[in-house]
Parts: sequence; C-alpha cells; structure tokens
Amino acid sequence: MHTTTVQSSQANQDLLERFEAVRGCRHHFPLLRQRVNGKPLVYFDNAATSQKPQVVIDATLRYYEEENSNIHRGVHYLSERATQAYEGVRVKVQHLLNAAHQREIIFVRGTTEGINLVAYSYGRTIVGAGDEVLISAMEHHSNIVPWQILCEEKGAKLRVIPINDRGEIELADYEKLLTSRTKIVALTHVSNALGTINPVKTMVAMAHAHGIPVLLDGAQAVPHMKVDVRDLDCDFYVFSAHKAFGPTGVGILYGVTKLLDAMPPYQSGGDMIKSVTFEKTIYNDLPYKFEAGTPNIGGGIGMGAAIDYINEIDLASLAEYEHELLAYATRGVAEIPGLRIIGTAREKASVLSFVIDGIHPHDIGTILDDEGIAIRTGHHCAQPVMQRFGVPATARASFAFYNTKEEIDVFLAALHRVREVLA
Ligand code: ALA
Repeated sequence: MHTTTVQSSQANQDLLERFEAVRGCRHHFPLLRQRVNGKPLVYFDNAATSQKPQVVIDATLRYYEEENSNIHRGVHYLSERATQAYEGVRVKVQHLLNAAHQREIIFVRGTTEGINLVAYSYGRTIVGAGDEVLISAMEHHSNIVPWQILCEEKGAKLRVIPINDRGEIELADYEKLLTSRTKIVALTHVSNALGTINPVKTMVAMAHAHGIPVLLDGAQAVPHMKVDVRDLDCDFYVFSAHKAFGPTGVGILYGVTKLLDAMPPYQSGGDMIKSVTFEKTIYNDLPYKFEAGTPNIGGGIGMGAAIDYINEIDLASLAEYEHELLAYATRGVAEIPGLRIIGTAREKASVLSFVIDGIHPHDIGTILDDEGIAIRTGHHCAQPVMQRFGVPATARASFAFYNTKEEIDVFLAALHRVREVLA
C-alpha cells in the first residue's frame, strides 16, 4: 500500500515535470507574445491553423536569403543545395510517418490537394457505375466534395457511415456498409468539428478484410499524436503542414507503392516526366510522377524544420498535456448555463465545439475577440456535421500544446460575460 502511494506520487511528479517541459515550449512561438484589443492574445483556433515556432520562421527565411533556387533542374551550387534540402524533408516525413519508402511521400499543397489527387487519379481508375465510395458523417468538405464529384461523374454512389449523438462511429453500422460495391473508404482520423478520434486502425482492418483500400485524412491528427502509417496499415494518409506548426501551402500524401505505381498522373507538366516528344511522354518514377511543376520549395523546407521541432518534443507528453487542457476546459464550460457541447466522444483530441442557447456562435466569437481570444465560429467546413446535430454553426475552441490552463480561465470568464451580455 505504502509502496503504491510512493510510486503514484512519483508518477505524478514525473507527469508535472513533463507538462512543465511542454509548457516551456510556448516561448518558441513569437506570435503568442502579442496583445489583441489591448489584452494578451489567447489563441484557441489551432484546428484552423497552428502557430509557427521561431525555428520554422528562421528556416523559411534562411532558405530565401541563402538557398533560393529551383530544384531537380540545375547543376549549379544553389540548385543542388536547394534540391538536397527539399529532398531531405521527404526523408524527414518518411520517418515522421514511419513510411516504408521515400517514394511513398508525395509533396502536395495540403490535405485538400492530397485527397483530390487520390479521388482524381486512383478514384477515376477504380470507381465505375454502380460502385460505392464510403465516407463518414463527420468528414469536412475536403473529404466529401472530391468523392461526390467522382461519384457524379462515374454514376457511383457516395455512402455515409452514420455517427451517434456523441459524434462517434458505431463499428456495426460501418461493417454493414462495407460491401463488394465499396471501392474505397475515406475517413478522417480526428474530426475537426467534433474532436472525435476514430478507431482508424480497426476500421482499416475491417475494410481490408473486404479487400477495400482506405484513405485517412490526418489533418487534425498529425499535430496531436504519433502517426505510424505502417501500424495503421492504411493505403493513403494525408496532412497539411500548416496545422502541424509548419507553413501554409504545403502538405503530404502518403500512399503505398503498389497503388501509387499503378495510378495515372494527377497533374502534368515539368518534373513529372522522363521524356517528352509530341508523339509520347514517358512519366517519371515515384514520387515525381505526382509532383508536376515547381513546388512550394520554401514551404517544404519550413515543414522540414517543423518536423525537426516536433521530433524534439516528447509527443506522448504533448498528447497527455493537451488531453488535460481539453478535460479542464470541458469541466469549465459545463458550468455555463445553456451551453451544450457538440461532440462528446469518449476518445477526443483538442477540440471543444459548443453552442449556447439563444446566442449565435458569431456573437460569441465577436465578444471573445474583444477580449483577445481567437476561436472559430461557423460550420468549420463541415456543414453535414452541423446538420447532423441540428445546429447552423458552433463556436469552437481548439487547443495546442502551447496553450495553458490560465488561458482557459480567461476564456471561461469571457464565456460567463457572453451569457451576462447576450442571454
Ligand atoms: N478545416 C479547417 C478548420 O477546421 C480550416 O478550421
């Protein structure tokens, strides 16, 4: 008994120390030092985009000051240096995701382009009239519309896995929708509007048991947890750098070699070719076959710096700390009369969506902004989720590891004022 108490107080001490180390990272983010409307900024819009640590800003600046040159094209010093730096990022992403090969890492503009690439290239090859594409009811528009367009074009059907009132997928509902007509499953790893963490490893295994490939949208997962594509066994995985402490305009599509190899190009032009004549073009090998034109080189290099940064933080402590923030905020908002949380899944990450009786979410957002607090209000690019819960919009606070309980206290006090002023 005594030993257990000593052990648990030691464990608590360790946890506090690890949380302290995570909190210490806040000063790496220069933007967070500013005041907004005369108040210290409280940035709770991390699901829309994260802030950038100084090392990412410095790496991007250094690229333009010292390395700027086109890649894969020059024999000169600068071009080789830029090419090496950019290709080095591919290797960093490979390790971040634990992909088997560099060729499975495709640079894209972001999550949206990654999904469009798969829907356009893979989707158009395998989906035909009468086939089905399966998504879930909690997808954001990027993981709905590309499949909808594909289905319209091919005479296929978009099927939707329902979600329960907590915002979770019931695996029995999912199983029923996996049929011989299903050609691909496209599913979010973590919901941007509800915060639900889906049991994606199990869901991939269930789809594979029917021979169906799975694309996972990792936009809201990569900033919050360790992702291992080989452990998940997914066929495609996409994410955006800007939600994971990197620059905007760059992201990654991971795909297994077997599928990528068989897929036709998505866009065409320079760099995706081996040779061109007016009679015939021979396409380049992976991954370049899918990387037409000059890419966002500076952005890619910034993403590399963001990955180095993530690697230096203990991701397990980060996830625990964020979980603690979410639990603290969830307990706090429960005391606000008339407030309803939208999305109460048992497994959640960093997102607190809510409505308050009789108050429009935009008004909540405006009053919070007066207090220097940035949240997102609206449909969060996930209108079907709003329809599912019968609300036109929600207010959404989304946390990152650089946020603090003190900021949550400021946010909760402001929400009480919203009630006083508007309810
Ligand atoms: N999909 C992003 C969000 O959740 C933009 O805010």
